Amino acid sequence: MTTPDTHRQAVAVVTGGAGGIGSAICAKLAEAGLRVVVGYHRSAEAARRLVETLPGDGHSARPAAVTDSAALTALAASVGKDYGGCDALVNCAGVTRFVRHSDLDSLDDELINSILATNVRGAFAAVRAFRPLLEKSTLPGGGVVVNLSSAAGNIAMGSNVMYCASKAALDNMTKSLARALAPRIRVVSVSPALVDTEFVKSLDQAWRDEQAARTPLGRLATPEEVGAAVTAVITTLTFTTGTILAVDGGRTLG
Ligand SMILES: NC(=O)c1ccc[n+]([C@@H]2O[C@H](COP(=O)([O-])OP(=O)(O)OC[C@H]3O[C@@H](n4cnc5c(N)ncnc54)[C@H](OP(=O)(O)O)[C@@H]3O)[C@@H](O)[C@H]2O)c1
Repeated sequence: MTTPDTHRQAVAVVTGGAGGIGSAICAKLAEAGLRVVVGYHRSAEAARRLVETLPGDGHSARPAAVTDSAALTALAASVGKDYGGCDALVNCAGVTRFVRHSDLDSLDDELINSILATNVRGAFAAVRAFRPLLEKSTLPGGGVVVNLSSAAGNIAMGSNVMYCASKAALDNMTKSLARALAPRIRVVSVSPALVDTEFVKSLDQAWRDEQAARTPLGRLATPEEVGAAVTAVITTLTFTTGTILAVDGGRTLG
């Protein structure tokens, strides 16, 4: 996939790119012909291994701690220098931990700060750092930001109260930024319910079955389906911005 004016191959940066969902997103983007920068925090080795498996060439693994705004600015500078631009930013980095919603004491300040600093501030900081590059994109529809949200932000059911709140905040930010950054940059949330990553597969089977039973389409999403949705937003849905795109098999229909 090339940008029309410059004939440069389109470039996507994926934070949390070596994670369960991030690696499927990177694979789908590479299959669609983009050059992919796999952003990692702790998983440097997994990110490097992923790069080796991606189809096409020009992919790279780079540190992208979203809680470190200076590191994000440095990443944007290195991507601009090495690739000549950036067309898509996928904010996939995220953290959580299971805490019963009624157990307020276990949701301590440290966990709250970590969730908000990564899932909300981190996504914003990445957009702030990459805005100058994204504004110059000549992709049809312009530069694009995809925020990995969650049905938890809509139905307030999920791993803990603050995780749900963080994804609601992310969706709200998607709308503000879509308005603020138009017409040069589109901003879209992709919002899955539970996704059957290796981690989720390791959780209690009865609980997973219950989640599937509550889903009109009767199963969980695959990481590949989420990757396909992100890729569609970037390559195909060129008149879509400020939208929360549910990829949840109808889980949020109630
Ligand atoms: N799994 C689900 O059912 C589900 C459902 C809806 C939405 N989501 C969302 O999808 C996204 C990916 O989740 P996942 O299931 O793939 O989880 P995962 O496998 O745990 O991946 C999380 C990723 O976030 C990265 N990360 C964490 N803290 C970071 C930081 N400070 N800076 C940069 N990167 C950081 C990790 O990078 P390193 O490993 O390099 O440290 C990792 O790649 C998250 O935003 C999550 O909220 C997941």
